[in-house]
Amino acid sequence: MKVFAYGIRDDEKPALKDWESQNPEIEVDYTQELLTPETAKLAKGADSAVVYQQLDYTKETLEALAAAGVKNMSLRNVGTDNVDFDAAKELGMNISNVPVYSPNAIAEHSMIQLSRLLRRTKPMDNKVAKHDLRWAPTIGREMRMQTVGIIGTGNIGRKAINILKGFGAKVIAYDMFPNKELQEEGLYVDSLDELYAQADAISLYVPGVPANHHMINKDSIAKMKDGVVIVNCSRGNLVDIDAVIDGLNSGKVSDFAMDVYENEVGLFNEDWSGKEFPDPKIADLIARDNVLVTPHIAFYTTKAVDEMVHQSFDAAVSFAKGEKPSIAVDF
Ligand SMILES: NC(=O)c1ccc[n+]([C@@H]2O[C@H](COP(=O)([O-])OP(=O)(O)OC[C@H]3O[C@@H](n4cnc5c(N)ncnc54)[C@H](O)[C@@H]3O)[C@@H](O)[C@H]2O)c1
Repeated sequence: MKVFAYGIRDDEKPALKDWESQNPEIEVDYTQELLTPETAKLAKGADSAVVYQQLDYTKETLEALAAAGVKNMSLRNVGTDNVDFDAAKELGMNISNVPVYSPNAIAEHSMIQLSRLLRRTKPMDNKVAKHDLRWAPTIGREMRMQTVGIIGTGNIGRKAINILKGFGAKVIAYDMFPNKELQEEGLYVDSLDELYAQADAISLYVPGVPANHHMINKDSIAKMKDGVVIVNCSRGNLVDIDAVIDGLNSGKVSDFAMDVYENEVGLFNEDWSGKEFPDPKIADLIARDNVLVTPHIAFYTTKAVDEMVHQSFDAAVSFAKGEKPSIAVDF
């Protein structure tokens, strides 16, 4: 049995080596190139392909993969919005993704960013780098003094709540489908409006589905406390960035951390040093002392990468054996 993988990065190689040592009977071959109509032939002779890319899996690409004799495709990431499922269905393909790899990775990053904002580490680090070791006026706030509003209590939101409890913060939460345990703890408020009215800091953990598009906008920000802190490590389209920038300018929003951005494709995970950003809003946000920008790295930990490799390769083998892995995508 053979599995062929596309787009393998250097940081994935230790996990791949580990998987291979646990599955010596499976032949593994890979390329750093992405899956395209041109590179599809590299998978010829394999039983399954393992992939990860932002580039679309178009009809043409999937047809080329099927023409190379490969009809099982396992994504090493969660997002499947770049897959042409109509074409995949026509071709009789099997597809899997990795919906849960390490919720802690994202929860930790978001709460680290919240604590950094509260302790004003960006301006303090800048001062120290310039050898200015004075305290004032860079005074911080304590996590335990904050009421933190968690929107979305799924896999990641729940981990964030655990971290907040460790800090001693007061947690309030809202979810359309409340979790029983959290309900028993009495953490939920009844509406988003109630959460907006009570929270000193708000962190988002909901999917970027169309219904949630720009849920943080001019109107929702107006309902928040003056000086609210907002953290978005979920999906860029949840936030109307112009409304947040207006809020930062007026002081309504005191601090903002973002790991995701609506127009991040082609911007994040690129080296812009010595070049001008193609998007002036990002340049503006990065320049602000009270804004933390990270380029979609919340997931990017050794543990998460390990899970993405192991789960996708396991699914690829399972498809090749004619089984349906638990992470198969139904379409
Ligand atoms: N930055 C990163 O690297 C990274 C990595 C992985 C996931 N994410 C993002 O993190 C977010 C959370 O992921 P998850 O795995 O916890 O998802 P999940 O599906 O486990 O949980 C999402 C929760 O949000 C709730 N929800 C949906 N819409 C809502 C709304 N309008 N109001 C209130 N609740 C709502 C759902 O009921 C569900 O409980 C997603 O947006 C995901 O894309 C980011």
